Amino acid sequence: MSVSSDQAIIRVRDLVVGFGTQTVLNGVSLEVRRGEILGIVGASGGGKSVLLRTLIGLIHKRRGSIAIFGKDLDRASVEEMQAVERRWGVLFQQGALFSSLSARENVQFPMREHLTLSQTLYEEVATAKLEMVGLNIEDSRKLPAELSGGMVKRVALARALALDPEIVFLDEPTSGLDPIAAGEFDFLIKTLQQTLGLTVFMVTHDLDSLHTVCNRIIALADGKVVASGPLAAMLECDHPWVKAYFRGKRARGVSGTPASTH
Ligand SMILES: Nc1ncnc2c1ncn2[C@@H]1O[C@H](COP(=O)(O)OP(=O)(O)O)[C@@H](O)[C@H]1O
Ligand SMILES: [Mg+2]
Repeated sequence: MSVSSDQAIIRVRDLVVGFGTQTVLNGVSLEVRRGEILGIVGASGGGKSVLLRTLIGLIHKRRGSIAIFGKDLDRASVEEMQAVERRWGVLFQQGALFSSLSARENVQFPMREHLTLSQTLYEEVATAKLEMVGLNIEDSRKLPAELSGGMVKRVALARALALDPEIVFLDEPTSGLDPIAAGEFDFLIKTLQQTLGLTVFMVTHDLDSLHTVCNRIIALADGKVVASGPLAAMLECDHPWVKAYFRGKRARGVSGTPASTH
């Protein structure tokens, strides 16, 4: 089931997903390469979260195929699916943590579900994961409501990393954070990607994240992939939504300086 480094770790073909009479994704094809940080952008309500949730098996597709780690998920047995699921971690857009569990209990949750370890080992692994994302022991005993927004995201990331995944799916990881906390979180994602060799599938509308952490960007519009490539390719793309997003008032130039101050 393993793939060599030049192959796609995720391969999606002609994906169609909808609800009732609404078609959200209408023929999405894309590949994610091992070790890259891929950013997914698109209009609000355009199907970014639906795409992420379909890839991890939470939403049924109507058509198309999804292969992860070289395995067509339609052909995976229950056991194979469980094995595949253990190789990815997810940070959801909403409800990132269980509110009644402390930060460290949240991180231990996937371990308790999938692994049989001693209590000491659960504690040690949780401490290591929390250290990795920059949370100290004292804060790790707090409930999510007692932590700042940035810390909650860090704990959610530590939980996504609990089972040493090869892929992490991040849905708007910096939304709701102030620009400084968002910048720190971006730096953390990039550092962890480099040290752990992760593949990162990141839905975001944060232009700073796209500029600083993503190796490649895929733009979704009208239920399809309308542009794919590095940031430079987005800046050259003439699709109206991509143009408005990357070259509009709130965008900034390639050099990193604001394109407009208002
Ligand atoms: N579980 C669901 N049931 C019905 N409609 C849904 C569901 N999840 C998402 N949608 C619809 O799919 C569209 C895309 O949503 P979403 O992927 O969340 O957008 P975004 O790009 O902002 O993440 C929206 O119109 C949303 O209302
Ligand atoms: Mg979303």
